[in-house]
Formats: sequence, structure tokens, C-alpha cells
Amino acid sequence: MSASLLGKASDKGLLSFGVHDLRDWTYDRHRTVDDTPYGGGPGMVMKPSPWGEALDDVLTPSARLVVPTPSGRPFTQAVAAEMAAGDHLVFACGRYEGIDSRVMRHYAPLVRVDEVSIGDYVLAGGEVAVLVMIEAISRLVPGVLGNFESVTDDSFAPGRMETLVEGPVFTKPRDWRGQAVPDVLMSGHHGRIARWRRDEAFRRTAALRPDLLARLDPAGLDKHDRKL
Ligand code: ADE
Repeated sequence: MSASLLGKASDKGLLSFGVHDLRDWTYDRHRTVDDTPYGGGPGMVMKPSPWGEALDDVLTPSARLVVPTPSGRPFTQAVAAEMAAGDHLVFACGRYEGIDSRVMRHYAPLVRVDEVSIGDYVLAGGEVAVLVMIEAISRLVPGVLGNFESVTDDSFAPGRMETLVEGPVFTKPRDWRGQAVPDVLMSGHHGRIARWRRDEAFRRTAALRPDLLARLDPAGLDKHDRKL
């Protein structure tokens, strides 16, 4: 978090990060944070007491509690944008089989609690998922990206790109290993370039993300889109 985009954003004072060790809220010799699951089964479950003490100290009234878990609701660009509007996010990274669910129940009346998944696969813990979320959220905070970098053309950006992934991009040289850059990008014709980019986004979405295309709102399609 001190490198690259996030590092620069925190140097500029646009964001600040705190990292806490859950074991600081344990009192036994082994600094125990997990125990066997009630009802049996494999793995270990994170104990509610250290989490309760930690969250009592770290949460503020305006905070949102975000709990990464493969059983959460999907973390999308829209969720990232919603979280970027908040002023304090607290991420509770679980390990093992997850956190005793009474912890989430306990805080739900006090702060907004979100259990979120970054994808349909299981990581060894929530930390890497939280890094992914922090990066996606932070670049939507005003001032974090340079002015020249617009987030409105991103894949999944709200508006026209909401259910499209971005098409291919090119830079110099114009010819590389026998492949030329598409002529339209050299035309200087902004209207035609925008049309081409949208068509390519459609083609790529159809080829790689038919699930997204199926969710497309027909009201947002123009005549040319319909022909594709
Ligand atoms: N923890 C383990 N797997 C995860 C996932 N896919 N998303 C969020 N948190 C997780």
C-alpha cells in the first residue's frame, strides 16, 4: 500500500491506511484467534472475542465494515464506487473457515456491514482480496488518478460501459511484427473512433463475457449496436 498509486495517494494525503494485528486483542499465551467449529467439520473458525474487541477500538460511527469472504455478494465496479464515497472503511480479513457469524450480526445495527467476494474462487485468507478492493476503490477517489486518466471509459464504468468490457488498445509504432494499427485510429475522426471503440467493446464482450451481454439494457442500445 506504500507503493505506486496507493503510495502516492497517501503521500498526497488523499487516503490513509492503518493495518492492525488481530492478535493484539488476545490475552492468552498463544494469542489464539481461532477454534474448532460448532457442529463439527474441517478447519477452524475465527473466535468472536478478539474481533469484537478489535472492531470496538477501530470502528467509528461513520465507518463501513467490509468482510471479504467467498460467500459474500460480488464486489463489482458499482460496489467499488459506492465504497469510494465513504470516508472510513474497515476491512476485517478472515482466515481459515471464516469469522464467527455473530460478529457480523453484532455490528450490523451499528455500522453498514458488507460481506463481499472478489470472485468465484477460494483464497487462503481475505488479505489479498482486500488489496484488490482497496486498489479498485482508491482509484475512484477524486485526485488519486491524474486528470488525464479518466475512469469513465473503463470496463464496467457506469453509463455506456456498464455491461461492456473495453476493446483493444494500441500505441506506437504503427507497424509491429507485421501487424498494423487499425486505420480508423489514425483517421483523427473522433466520431468514427468512438464508434469503432464501442463496436470492439461489443465484440469482445460477446466473445469473452456473454454473461454481461445478456444483462445489457436494450434501452441503452443505439441503431448501430442493434445491427452488431
Ligand atoms: N476470502 C477467500 N476467498 C475470497 C474471495 N474469493 N473473495 C473475498 N474474500 C475471500
